[in-house]
Formats: sequence, structure tokens, C-alpha cells
Amino acid sequence: MPRFQLTARAVRRQVLNSQAVIIGLEAAEIAASAIPGQFVELKVPGVLWRRPMSIYRRIGDVIEILVAIVGPGSRALAQLIPGGSIDIIGPLGNGFPIDGSDGDVVDDVVVAGGFGIAPFPFLVQRLREVGRTPRIFLGGRTKDQLFRQDLPAERISVATEDGSAGEQGKVVPLFASFADAVPERIERMRVYACGPTPMLRALQHAVASRGIRAWVSVEREMACGIGICQGCVVGAAGSDAYLLACKDGPVFDASAIVL
Ligand SMILES: Cc1cc2nc3c(=O)[nH]c(=O)nc-3n(C[C@H](O)[C@H](O)[C@H](O)COP(=O)(O)OP(=O)(O)OC[C@H]3O[C@@H](n4cnc5c(N)ncnc54)[C@H](O)[C@@H]3O)c2cc1C
Ligand code: FES
Repeated sequence: MPRFQLTARAVRRQVLNSQAVIIGLEAAEIAASAIPGQFVELKVPGVLWRRPMSIYRRIGDVIEILVAIVGPGSRALAQLIPGGSIDIIGPLGNGFPIDGSDGDVVDDVVVAGGFGIAPFPFLVQRLREVGRTPRIFLGGRTKDQLFRQDLPAERISVATEDGSAGEQGKVVPLFASFADAVPERIERMRVYACGPTPMLRALQHAVASRGIRAWVSVEREMACGIGICQGCVVGAAGSDAYLLACKDGPVFDASAIVL
């Protein structure tokens, strides 16, 4: 898989709320070779380690990232304005397995919690290019944690913990009720998930108990991003071995890892 280091010019900045910004970066080589689920590492001035961000969407030569402001790196990144530039490396990691090998998939399903939505506009884009429109389950603590502006509205089901949008509750039970209502489709269902670790753990259980195939994108704090520092360990299921989120992931078969 090719990997590029380049200085990307910012061409777009969209503020979603006080905690979230979308930045568009001109990065032709990365845009041309990336697949959904991959990420880039950005060298944010004044911050020691590069910061990993999923590729949110691809528009021509531009890749977009959705930045959740949680600390100094993301805060500085969120201030990048059009005309500014930043050093980035990518595409990194693997991606969601959507092409070919899964045969005749009938039910693509996305399950995302909060900022876990980040890799999915790109995935939805790719699936639609091959004639597949996934069903999308979105969850957040409140409606302010739902980022659905770049997803097909008619396919989205929502759960919020405070009931401020959609069903009151968590997103995994919402997905599980859907799955239970269509038992005849379970066998050909493919689930792609990203979100906080407790949510992914609940999803692992929900899919394992129903025999549904699923892939999860995990977050680990990262330094090198390319498999050298061993800083992003994920336990392998059924053994003492470990995997690296940056190199073996960040997308894993849900049955292959311990969260
Ligand atoms: C493969 C991958 C893809 C990611 N994609 C996105 C994305 O698309 N959008 C986005 O906003 N964020 C994404 N993240 C998380 C993002 O990289 C971190 O939030 C960011 O690096 C934090 O840097 P900071 O300097 O702002 O905060 P820091 O001061 O470094 O951290 C602030 C707080 O966030 C926690 N934190 C830091 N890094 C992570 C992490 N990787 N996972 C969970 N908690 C963390 C810290 O423990 C601390 O509590 C991704 C992470 C990975 C590994
Ligand atoms: S971040 Fe260095 S090995 Fe994964």
C-alpha cells in the first residue's frame, strides 16, 4: 500500500459546533490511493507526536477530516484555515473490507457512536459507488454529538442517551432490535462500526451472539503510526498475541480482537 508524506494546503474549514470542525486538505496522492477506514497522521505545530485522524470524506484531490477538539493537538488542528498548510502522512492502516471478497452482500450496516462517525462518510461514498447504500445507526449522549450532515438522511436511525434526538438509549441496542426484526437477512449482513471502546465491546457481543459478521475501527493513542513504537497494542482474541492498531488495524474483524 503506497504511503505519502506531503505538505497539504487547507482548502476548507467548516465549524460544526464548539467541539467539532471539518478541515479539507488538498492531498492528491493520498486522496487517490486511500480506502475508507484508513487514516492520516498530521504534524501539528507545537505538539510532539503526529495526531491520527480518519479520512472523513474524499472530494477529488481533497481529503476531509472531522476534528473533535479534545486537547492541544486537536485544538490547534481545528484552527487551520484555508490557505494554511500542514505536513501529513498517509494513507495509513488498513480499511473496511468492502470490495469483492464478501460476495453478494445484501445488508451493509454502519454503527457509529459520537465522533466514531469519522470514517463513515467516505465508506458510504464508496459503497454507493458500487450500488450499495448502507443502513446507518448513529448514537451519542446528546443530539450535539450526532454528525450526520454528510450521510444519506433517509437511511439513518438515531439513539441519544438523553432522548434529545431519535430513540432514547444507546446505539447498539437500537441496531440489535433492527437485526432481530430481520432474521432472514442476518447471514448476509455486514456491520462496520466505530466509536468508544465500551460501545464497540457491546457491539462485539451483539454480533457474536447473533452470528453477524462485523468489523470495528479501534482508537488507540498513537505515536509513530507505522508499526515501530509498539504504542498502539490491541489484544488478539484466543491467544496471548497482540496486534498493532496502526499497522494491523485500525479496522479489525470484530471476532479477532479483545477490547
Ligand atoms: C486511527 C485513529 C483515527 C482517529 N480518527 C480521528 C478522527 O477522525 N477525528 C478525531 O477527532 N479524532 C480521531 N482520533 C483520535 C485523535 O487522534 C485524538 O483525539 C487526538 O490525537 C488527541 O490529541 P490532542 O492533542 O487533541 O489531545 P491529547 O491531549 O493528546 O488527549 C486528550 C485526551 O484524549 C485522549 N486521547 C488522545 N488520543 C486518543 C485516541 N487516539 N483515542 C482515544 N483517546 C485519545 C487522551 O488520553 C486525553 O484524555 C483517531 C485516533 C486514531 C488512533
Ligand atoms: S503507533 Fe507506533 S506502533 Fe502503532
